[in-house]
Amino acid sequence: MEKSIFSLENKVAIITGATGDLGFAISKAYIEAGATVVLAGRDQNKLKSAIQKLGESLDRVITYVVDVADAKQVDAMIDGVIQRLGQIDILVTAAGIQHRSPALTFNHDAWNEVLQINLNGTFYCAQAAAKHMISKNSGRIIMITSLTAEIGIPNIAAYAASRGGIRQLCKAMAVEWAQHGITVNCIGPGRFRTNMTEDLFVDASKRTKFLDVIPMKRAGSPEDLAGVSVFLASDASSYITGQSIYVDGGWLAGCGNLLG
Ligand SMILES: NC(=O)c1ccc[n+]([C@@H]2O[C@H](COP(=O)([O-])OP(=O)(O)OC[C@H]3O[C@@H](n4cnc5c(N)ncnc54)[C@H](OP(=O)(O)O)[C@@H]3O)[C@@H](O)[C@H]2O)c1
Repeated sequence: MEKSIFSLENKVAIITGATGDLGFAISKAYIEAGATVVLAGRDQNKLKSAIQKLGESLDRVITYVVDVADAKQVDAMIDGVIQRLGQIDILVTAAGIQHRSPALTFNHDAWNEVLQINLNGTFYCAQAAAKHMISKNSGRIIMITSLTAEIGIPNIAAYAASRGGIRQLCKAMAVEWAQHGITVNCIGPGRFRTNMTEDLFVDASKRTKFLDVIPMKRAGSPEDLAGVSVFLASDASSYITGQSIYVDGGWLAGCGNLLG
């Protein structure tokens, strides 16, 4: 039978933030599409439980402990994966944190931490992975941004700046590395129910506010990222680079419009 254009067979994918809800869902989708997956996260215990949840596919899953904010650790991970698996075809950067505070009183250490993990961490991972991808003249880099790369939401100045930065980083790397067969794209989730956002879901007034501006009237669940993640990693998207695809139930299209 002919191989599907969405197949990830014989591909090696690294997913940072794989112990988080979105990174885990993407990892699962890649395994189902045939890839060998490297689950990368900070916490060995969380990695162990992620691998247990994946169960049957253990022969195509390995884990790697890494703090993406540390460029040396990132380089060591990339070299380690090359030594162990011989190739890196796909990188997904889904590691990230959030601090919420009004911009006027945003603590500078908290600001730096968000930028260091979200933006610099994405840069370190993409740069290190691309060095290997260039030698093969092929590769897929998928950066998780956010709807907040496009719209203003109060109290998340550092996060929004990091996500907007990632969106531009994606374009800059896409044009530099197109000649090397590497595509660089972003996925921008809207509001997904995960560990990061759980507090917004349990607060009924906050939940009502964001559901009001989502035309589909529901939040995303991590599995809603499966299709687009596989698509951007597969041969089906080989002429797409420098783009951001928002997965937001129509939030951005409606611009938060409550009329009608
Ligand atoms: N949920 C949403 O609505 C939403 C919307 C738009 C964008 N996003 C973005 O999507 C990504 C995944 O978020 P999520 O909702 O799945 O949140 P999550 O469940 O909290 O997952 C975040 C992941 O990032 C990892 N991480 C944090 N700092 C790290 C570091 N320095 N080095 C390595 N890994 C680190 C966490 O590992 P530890 O557990 O070890 O800290 C965890 O695996 C994040 O970048 C987030 O900003 C989420």
